[in-house]
Amino acid sequence: MLFSLLLVAAGASASSSFDTLVTFGDSYTDNGRLGYYINNGGKAPPPGQLQTESTTTASGGLNWAQYAARAVNASLVDYAVSGATCSNKLVSRYFAAIKAPFPSVLDDEIPSFEADVNFKSVFPKPRTADGTVYALWIGTNDLGYGGFLSDSQAPGTTISDYVECVWAVLDAIYKNGGRRFVLLNTAPLELAPLYAPAAANGGGGTLDSQFWANKTAYNVTEYAFKIKEYTTSVNKIFAYGVPFQVVIKSRWPGAMVDVFDVHSLIMDIVASPKTYLDAPYNVTGYWHHCLATNSSVCVDQTALGPRSGFLWYDELHPSDKTDSVIASNFVDVVAGKSKYGTRYTSSGWDSLGA
Ligand SMILES: *[C@@H]1O[C@H](CO)[C@@H](O)[C@H](O)[C@H]1NC(C)=O
Ligand SMILES: *[C@@H]1O[C@H](CO)[C@@H](O)[C@H](O)[C@H]1NC(C)=O
Ligand SMILES: *[C@@H]1O[C@H](CO)[C@@H](O)[C@H](O)[C@H]1NC(C)=O
Ligand SMILES: *[C@@H]1O[C@H](CO)[C@@H](O)[C@H](O)[C@H]1NC(C)=O
Ligand SMILES: *[C@@H]1O[C@H](CO)[C@@H](O)[C@H](O)[C@H]1NC(C)=O
Repeated sequence: MLFSLLLVAAGASASSSFDTLVTFGDSYTDNGRLGYYINNGGKAPPPGQLQTESTTTASGGLNWAQYAARAVNASLVDYAVSGATCSNKLVSRYFAAIKAPFPSVLDDEIPSFEADVNFKSVFPKPRTADGTVYALWIGTNDLGYGGFLSDSQAPGTTISDYVECVWAVLDAIYKNGGRRFVLLNTAPLELAPLYAPAAANGGGGTLDSQFWANKTAYNVTEYAFKIKEYTTSVNKIFAYGVPFQVVIKSRWPGAMVDVFDVHSLIMDIVASPKTYLDAPYNVTGYWHHCLATNSSVCVDQTALGPRSGFLWYDELHPSDKTDSVIASNFVDVVAGKSKYGTRYTSSGWDSLGA
């Protein structure tokens, strides 16, 4: 009896490892893709070709997806583009360097993925249901300055539309054979130096910034409250919405979705820096300071200890140290053994031989 129960449990779970990691998102995940667009007249890499991987990402070094893939020796297939939102039909931000809006997940990253699925040059290992994990981390630009925070969304569109866009991304991956998803929830952006009030108002935040040129023209205390409202609401919608879509609606039969509560993980780093970062620990400031008026004039905070002591690399991006922490927890989430992961499986998952 006990034996057969164990068998059922084993059948319903996934193997703890994966050999291919496919990522969608923004600068938190981009490993060089926006750079390709910039250097190639605003065009995506042609079908069958990935961008050259950069080891200096927006984290200052490797990003979480690179650490995670390296940790398990998986192929990393990254479609994330810095500056991306879920869809340019909701939030579209013009990017002068490509004379177009930043490429978005649904409108650019997904079509690029669809064009690549049959190329061995991109997917050297077969895309099996169990061994290929698709991760989506999107929302920082959608919800932030230039998006919902500054009321810059397309007229009449809402945060619910953004959530529907997230489901639509999973629909598209599912249609192309994806069965194993990880949805990373949104970070506590009100704590990012970009959105935190400045020291004068009791925070560790910036004044005007390369990413928000006239921040000081705003009541940032209110804007920090707003972005906290947006990110936490989105995370609550994900927490309730994923089981609803997976289990109640059976939207993706035979699929497994892990919600990775990266928000709580970052809060835990803030609460207990010495567990995660190197001394002397800095969870309010950031390492890489650039001029608000010229993002190529920058000074690193070498006098304040090593970069690996900082939660934030710059005013918006987690450091590579933080990303290495996110990566090891991501691997545990996929293995089904992380307190930051909540797993939902749709009927039919176990019949895939997973
Ligand atoms: C990592 O994966 C590659 C390609 O699949 C393989 O050739 C190599 O032996 C693997 N390395 C380890 C340490 O497992
Ligand atoms: C900040 O700058 C943006 C872009 O130039 C402008 O649209 C907005 O009105 C400015 N905000 C304030 C409060 O001055
Ligand atoms: C900024 O907003 C906070 C929160 O609403 C409020 O307490 C404060 O008085 C405002 N500051 C200014 C200068 O209006
Ligand atoms: C954290 O870093 C900021 C620089 O961004 C610095 O101003 C602040 O003093 C540092 N905090 C600590 C506790 O060292
Ligand atoms: C920004 O700084 C770089 C490096 O000093 C300089 O080459 C460039 O002209 C500056 N850009 C602007 C817009 O001032």
